[in-house]
Amino acid sequence: GAAALLEAENAAISQGVVESNHPGYTGTGFVNYDNLIGSYVEWAVESSEARTVSLTLRYANGTAANRQMNVAGTVVDFPGTGAWTNWRTARLTVSLAAGTTPIRATATTANGGPNVDSLSV
Ligand code: GCU
Ligand code: CA
Repeated sequence: GAAALLEAENAAISQGVVESNHPGYTGTGFVNYDNLIGSYVEWAVESSEARTVSLTLRYANGTAANRQMNVAGTVVDFPGTGAWTNWRTARLTVSLAAGTTPIRATATTANGGPNVDSLSV
């Protein structure tokens, strides 16, 4: 089906807050992860059938440190983007079930995640 753009500010958030102080995001804002291990955003991704898909996470990281996250079981790099207003994408492949699959992006370092704008499926 058509690509879905799922905003982080509409997803389930644990240990993070919706903010809008760094322009360039889509929708109404982005999620600022608390800077600790375990903060996460979880999207409910719908699919009519079991299939393998490419996910695109849009993020900003205004620091020089890679802010790795575990995304649906895969460790993904979110290197610095040069400024909090520079938004880039990271991609990974996941398997979706028929129906709803929770896709959680969890910070794996004490720096927390990057600022996260959206997930595209
Ligand atoms: C700054 C920035 C936040 C960011 C934070 C961080 O406070 O304004 O958007 O989330 O740094 O280092 O995680
Ligand atoms: Ca943060």
